[in-house]
Amino acid sequence: MLSILLPIASLAALGLSAPLAATCDKTLLRSITDSYISAQTDGKPSALTSIASNLAYFENDKTADITKGILSSALKIDHKRSQHDTTNCSTYTELIITDTKHPYVIGTQMHLTDNQVSKVETIITDKGDWLFNATGTLNWASKEKWDPIPEAKRDTRAVIQAAADAYCDIFHDKTAKVPWGTPCARLEGGSYTGKGTASDSCNVGIPSGVELTNRRYVIDEEYGTVDVFMSFAGIPDTHEFRLEGGKLRYVHTMTVTGK
Ligand SMILES: *[C@@H]1O[C@H](CO)[C@@H](O)[C@H](O)[C@H]1NC(C)=O
Ligand SMILES: *[C@@H]1O[C@H](CO)[C@@H](O)[C@H](O)[C@H]1NC(C)=O
Repeated sequence: MLSILLPIASLAALGLSAPLAATCDKTLLRSITDSYISAQTDGKPSALTSIASNLAYFENDKTADITKGILSSALKIDHKRSQHDTTNCSTYTELIITDTKHPYVIGTQMHLTDNQVSKVETIITDKGDWLFNATGTLNWASKEKWDPIPEAKRDTRAVIQAAADAYCDIFHDKTAKVPWGTPCARLEGGSYTGKGTASDSCNVGIPSGVELTNRRYVIDEEYGTVDVFMSFAGIPDTHEFRLEGGKLRYVHTMTVTGK
């Protein structure tokens, strides 16, 4: 309605970005990712806050019952990091659980509609999944620095998303222009390409002829990150990227190749 009544300049004056873009409060998004982490820690799906009554819930790309899924198991979380997309009202959380009883590495996207979580999608990797080694994931992830990027140095959403898209495209289109950075490291399952040198590159060993489709993005400009849930030639997958100065710095992947 506002867009009909007011010129764009007045919308800007009201602090609204674009007429069609939803905007979400970071405090709300943070309270939701905090509640997600508590729910997983305690094994209590009901601890999730701001859930819409018609919530859609998926585990590894299949519709599931949230009351009987992974959130109903209490897990001892060794590492967690949440990113928040205030433009598209969504969140992404990475969890690493090394508990020898059952180690997991989990990625979860939550998408909001009208300030309520309307969709939760989770990628659950464990033994048998691509390069799975939760101890390795924790070891490498805890050495990396995913700190806030000073405001003047932040990349735009468009730049961040384009980098993720180029990286995903290059699996089937070798002309895709990926903004490779150095150093850059890829953490895939528990395996790491980084050697700790200034010349570490992520432009190593990318297969060809693979289509990465049905991409769902969560972009956090404050941290230079974008997480992409997608179908990796039919396999449930998440790739999360961090950019610094327009260039790739880190890539984290989880790919559900096991059962
Ligand atoms: C927001 O997310 C929806 C659903 O994932 C997607 O279709 C849309 O393109 C996204 N919009 C922006 C501005 O990122
Ligand atoms: C898993 O990662 C840890 C830490 O990097 C390493 O010590 C261990 O050898 C790895 N295990 C396997 C089976 O690769």
